[in-house]
Amino acid sequence: MREATIRAWLCLTAFLTSSISQATLALAQAQAPYLLGLGIGDITGPVVETNMMGYAYLPQTDSGIHMRQRSRAFIMSTHIAFGDSGIRRSVLSNLATLFPGVYSERNVAIVSTHQHGGVGGYPEHLLPQITLAPGFLGLGNVTISGGNRNRSPSAYLANPAEERAQYDGDQDTALTLLRFQDASGAARGFLSFFAVHGTSLYENNTLVSSDNKGMAAYLYESSVEPNAMPGNTTFIAGFTQSNVGDTSPNTLGAFCESPGKSWDGQPCDFNTSTCGGTAQDCHGRGPGFLISDFESNRIIAQLQVDGARSLVSGSLAPVTGVVRSVHTYLNMSFRSFVLPNGTTVQTCPPALGYSFAGGTTSRGPGAFDFYVFRNPFWELVKGGVHPSDSVELPNAQQVACQYPKPVLLNTGYAHSPYDWSPSTVDIQMFRVGNLVILIIPGEMTTMAGRRIRNAVRARLTADGIIGQDAYVVIAGPANTYGHYVTTPEEYAVQRYEGASTIFGPYTLDSYIDKYTNLVSYLADNATTGAVPPSDPAPPDLTSKAISLRIPVIADSPGIGHNFGDVLVDVPPGSTFSAGQTVLAQFVGANPRNNLRLEGTFMSVEQLIGGSWLVVRSDSHPSTIYRWTRANTILGTSGTYRLAYFGDSKPLIGSISSFSATSSSFQVS
Ligand SMILES: *[C@@H]1O[C@H](CO)[C@@H](O)[C@H](O)[C@H]1NC(C)=O
Ligand SMILES: *[C@@H]1O[C@H](CO)[C@@H](O)[C@H](O)[C@H]1NC(C)=O
Ligand SMILES: *[C@@H]1O[C@H](CO)[C@@H](O)[C@H](O)[C@H]1NC(C)=O
Ligand SMILES: *[C@@H]1O[C@H](CO)[C@@H](O)[C@H](O)[C@H]1NC(C)=O
Ligand SMILES: *[C@@H]1O[C@H](CO)[C@@H](O)[C@H](O)[C@H]1NC(C)=O
Ligand SMILES: *[C@@H]1O[C@H](CO)[C@@H](O)[C@H](O)[C@H]1NC(C)=O
Ligand SMILES: *[C@@H]1O[C@H](CO)[C@@H](O)[C@H](O)[C@H]1NC(C)=O
Repeated sequence: MREATIRAWLCLTAFLTSSISQATLALAQAQAPYLLGLGIGDITGPVVETNMMGYAYLPQTDSGIHMRQRSRAFIMSTHIAFGDSGIRRSVLSNLATLFPGVYSERNVAIVSTHQHGGVGGYPEHLLPQITLAPGFLGLGNVTISGGNRNRSPSAYLANPAEERAQYDGDQDTALTLLRFQDASGAARGFLSFFAVHGTSLYENNTLVSSDNKGMAAYLYESSVEPNAMPGNTTFIAGFTQSNVGDTSPNTLGAFCESPGKSWDGQPCDFNTSTCGGTAQDCHGRGPGFLISDFESNRIIAQLQVDGARSLVSGSLAPVTGVVRSVHTYLNMSFRSFVLPNGTTVQTCPPALGYSFAGGTTSRGPGAFDFYVFRNPFWELVKGGVHPSDSVELPNAQQVACQYPKPVLLNTGYAHSPYDWSPSTVDIQMFRVGNLVILIIPGEMTTMAGRRIRNAVRARLTADGIIGQDAYVVIAGPANTYGHYVTTPEEYAVQRYEGASTIFGPYTLDSYIDKYTNLVSYLADNATTGAVPPSDPAPPDLTSKAISLRIPVIADSPGIGHNFGDVLVDVPPGSTFSAGQTVLAQFVGANPRNNLRLEGTFMSVEQLIGGSWLVVRSDSHPSTIYRWTRANTILGTSGTYRLAYFGDSKPLIGSISSFSATSSSFQVS
């Protein structure tokens, strides 16, 4: 579960302190206040035979690629300590070597888009190119209509009426955007924040994908550089997740898919998201429902792209002022603190409630996105994979602390084979000028996000750290995956998000207390490099991580075949028109042998001047790579062929590469 958050996006800000070492940079900086960097890297894990992240639905094992998953980096600093502007190296693992003393836990955040079509496991390759150059920043927001919908409106209604009356609705519809401009003022990329779950693609999808956030990034980047391969653009479009907790991209609502039942096609029960008493049949519908979940994904992505484009091409308020960051670890297990009204309360060791198991049981209310219906612990417990006796029953102290949550899985007390839930989380904030980014270790609901933004903003202005233009946004889930964060009122309702608020009813108030008390570290006069008192860092569990996946033993092309043999060819001499599907099938080998990062398992090649030019890769949404099948939809004319790239593993010896091509065909 911890690994789940380190999937799709990397959002970095760097706070560099030494003085300029290059005269040219100094000159450019006289006009451009910041030193800015943008980067992108392929982090797609194994694309077959691997359980997919997010829905945590065991049967959802991947079988190919819709779009590769990429990590994007954004660096903002006011000064630079090294002379080279070009850094072309894998970043995260090399940060310490490359920039001794520059990057630390304090100024690097890893923020997930929280897509649910990704692959489990760690990214193995990050950010091949980062360049730093003097530039400007601009900030603004735009309203996106129809881009998200509250999936737990009955829990939202538990918040006080006078508080709800301050807002237009039960979702945040603003997309906030920080534009990165070069020294000439031209836009070179952006970091945007908009809350919508990455659940456009349903849990029955088995193609690795980056859901609507990754699609938005691809659509934007390819519109700026249409001839570049995905992931090879210099313009970087960052679509960051925000207070995503109770948001859904399934904007038509949740309906019963219960063939033969009288309630088939009716909206699910408002309070419980059930159909005829059980939650399994209650499914969210996206705007492209009548066509497919892939169409819904595209529409939700396009709405974010359109909003971002209006800001990138518009006039934005210039950002000026210092760059600051602060980070600390917080142990949420029985953390005692004082509420603003003077009452002392505490958070609890992590535990999940009954609603967490959603539709697998009729014991508690579910919610309408597909993913709530299954969860790994429940699947493991049900399937007997994990001995449930390693989870202690909650003691009286834990039951009282978590009240009114009925504790289903007392994960804070489960330490075998390793800790099931984190009790220590990362608390982090970045500031650039008047913008403050709260890096949140979990999925805050809409109202929870509003409360913490308002509280931090109020403290920033009250303490004179930023003026009335202080602008606070949420990025998350980031760093540690601390599950959900609801308001105490929503917690009392114990829908899915409340049941998944693992540190108890005062989780949000504890975060508000901690983040607001750290704002002095963001002040203009904050001592460079000062770190707040911190709880101990959580233990590194990487070495204890268990893999249930069987390694590739050996590949065999089968009797009478060689790797790369064409099993189903494109009919020689055939002509296709736009919108048709072209399909070829090759004798393949297990793609887990070589992830082909920054590469591709297949390509569409066009005959240009006597040689074959790659025009599409496995990462284009118009191509689908499956382990046993590749097909393609094309939109331009000329002579083409499909190519396949594989890596086979013999029983003895090393993995070797091979490639194969289909017959050529025409597109009219
Ligand atoms: C959008 O920007 C305006 C101007 O800075 C600000 O007043 C407003 O609060 C912002 N909206 C949100 C939702 O942050
Ligand atoms: C996935 O489920 C949806 C909704 O039930 C259905 O429309 C779609 O055809 C399914 N997709 C696949 C690949 O089975
Ligand atoms: C990426 O772009 C660069 C610069 O345009 C180009 O030289 C390189 O061949 C491209 N790489 C791929 C894999 O398309
Ligand atoms: C949902 O629950 C609330 C509180 O129990 C109740 O007042 C309301 O009538 C219920 N709404 C529906 C549509 O069942
Ligand atoms: C967190 O705090 C609890 C309660 O004080 C303590 O038992 C636990 O050891 C602490 N965990 C860590 C990792 O420090
Ligand atoms: C302070 O707020 C908490 C949570 O809402 C409440 O339980 C407590 O009674 C309040 N204390 C006072 C003194 O009002
Ligand atoms: C920074 O300025 C504030 C307000 O002027 C002051 O209260 C604080 O002590 C200063 N902090 C440092 C570290 O100088």
